[in-house]
Amino acid sequence: MNVNAAPEMVTRPGRAVLSKQVQELGEWFHNIDLFGVPTAPQHFLGDFPNIKWKHIANSIPANLSGATVLDVGCNGGFYSIEMKKRGASRVLGIDVDDRYLNQARFAAATLGHDIEFQKCSVYNVDQIPGQFDFVFFMGVFYHLRYPLYALDKVITKVRHQLVFQTMLRGDESLHTSKDDYHFWDTKVFSEPGFPCMYFIEKKYAGDQTNWWIPNRSAAEAMLRSAGLKIVANPEFETWICEPQFAKTNGHYIHDAELEGTL
Ligand SMILES: C[S@@+](CC[C@H](N)C(=O)[O-])C[C@H]1O[C@@H](n2cnc3c(N)ncnc32)[C@H](O)[C@@H]1O
Repeated sequence: MNVNAAPEMVTRPGRAVLSKQVQELGEWFHNIDLFGVPTAPQHFLGDFPNIKWKHIANSIPANLSGATVLDVGCNGGFYSIEMKKRGASRVLGIDVDDRYLNQARFAAATLGHDIEFQKCSVYNVDQIPGQFDFVFFMGVFYHLRYPLYALDKVITKVRHQLVFQTMLRGDESLHTSKDDYHFWDTKVFSEPGFPCMYFIEKKYAGDQTNWWIPNRSAAEAMLRSAGLKIVANPEFETWICEPQFAKTNGHYIHDAELEGTL
């Protein structure tokens, strides 16, 4: 190699080429700014997920150098890219949808970020070796038929913090559960904010994968019940949590439940 040679000029495709490449990757859910080319300018929620991220961003360290990040249900890679921009040493985004994975790979490569994207279901996260300092589990929970099973698995991957988001519906008040209820205490289920999950038999918002939508109390109760401590709620439906009692006698809740020893 001639070390005196001028550094290779990185040529970026022009706007028209970039726009065409973006379109060829199908409809995007994440609006990512690729050098002035927005990937989902017509998103029904606006500039998504920037509109969410601007409330969450300050709750996560600005300098992530040396940190590892797992982004479960990474979609077009918005959160993976944001974590890489903060200097994370390793970012792994997983999703089940090839279209989204291809979009994520394209967005990261276009912006010059070295991020791994793998096809992997949340139900198989335990097959990914090791733990990650930060795990994003955003916008996936309510798309699952087995949401708590997935949450209990995701927690086994969290070394430091879980960033969790779910759609919420129903009463928004926070209900404080008693330690126990009498068998005939049936009125409690009608109390405002009593933790509940709405089951969607057909579709919600035209999407047949919206299965279980919790109210606010249920979302927080499930996070606590999974052994997490809620350390921040920077945005209405997003929580930052740390593992607290996720393991008992060396066993994760997930393992104990499946063994029938919980
Ligand atoms: C509503 S999007 C949320 C995307 C992103 N995490 C966010 O918050 O903006 C749901 C994502 O979860 C992915 N997904 C659905 N089921 C999944 C599963 N079993 N394992 C991993 N990802 C899944 C979808 O393909 C989609 O990319």
